[in-house]
Amino acid sequence: MKDRNGREINYLRLSVTDRCNLRCVYCMPESGVPLIDHADILSVEEVVRVVRIINDTLNLSKVRITGGEPLVRRGVLQIIKGISLFGIEELTLTTNGLLLQQMSNQLAEAGIQRVNISLDSLRDHRLKKITRRDISLHDIEESIHASLDAGLKPVRINCVLMRGVNDDEINEFLEWGNRIGVTVRFIEHMSSRLNQSIFVSRDEIIEHASHSGIIRRRKDDGGTSGIYTVGDGADTFGIIAPFSDPMCKNCNRIRLSASGMLVPCLASSEEVSIREPVRNGADDESISRLVQQMVINKPDSHGGCVSAAMWKIGG
Ligand code: 5AD
Ligand code: SF4
Repeated sequence: MKDRNGREINYLRLSVTDRCNLRCVYCMPESGVPLIDHADILSVEEVVRVVRIINDTLNLSKVRITGGEPLVRRGVLQIIKGISLFGIEELTLTTNGLLLQQMSNQLAEAGIQRVNISLDSLRDHRLKKITRRDISLHDIEESIHASLDAGLKPVRINCVLMRGVNDDEINEFLEWGNRIGVTVRFIEHMSSRLNQSIFVSRDEIIEHASHSGIIRRRKDDGGTSGIYTVGDGADTFGIIAPFSDPMCKNCNRIRLSASGMLVPCLASSEEVSIREPVRNGADDESISRLVQQMVINKPDSHGGCVSAAMWKIGG
């Protein structure tokens, strides 16, 4: 289905929990966030039903499971199994990787095709500082290997860049990614507060990366990440630049939060609760109408202003 701007909306980002086992500085306060009551989180059956209706309405080509950290959600495998029966072309997951080593086989069996793993530094002391938890590169590398072994390919690494924190690691990341066989994607830091001191722009990322070889931008593949090649073109990396390159005109996504809010855009306050109607016995058709209404009202662009809480809707 197309929105009022003629964009075909066929990608659902599905947050299955607002909880997380990390406390990344750019995402959550140290003390955590006010957690949604369990009773207010859609049950496994409710999530699967709502995704079925969204798919019937929009003919989805992609669903990405997110969080919080999706792998801490009890029942995440059942949710994935349920959704995999709808035959949606792409079923993927974004995770911080902590529980991935032990779950990658089950995830593959349940129907996940590939994973994105968040990793913001290759140095343990920085990882601990950024995530405020005792994690190490070794843990994440084990998860990467387990994912590749389970056939969850290609593995992509999401790295949020922050000036003075990890922006000196761009070339190391490129070398590391090529060595272990993963694609690194650098992400411009998003914040509702204008945090100029930390922000590293796409142009700066390219400038840094050019120390590894000549950088060329590949023709757009329609996604939100620009793909770049290094040197002879054999190695690639991505840049997700919500500020330098908002890509709103190609945006094909909507989001469903763990508590059942349909969210048309990161900048949007035009959320629609689907939980109430679901729990009040609404039939598929009236829920489908809510989905259509939300799609039609999808904002034109976020204009660089992102007001959403990432831990709620999964980045
Ligand atoms: N800016 C940029 N990326 C963010 N993510 C979470 N919060 C932010 C933010 N403020 C990213 C995570 C993860 C994905 C789910 O969203 O790093 O890769
Ligand atoms: Fe958790 Fe991801 Fe937020 Fe980090 S960015 S605290 S891993 S939800």
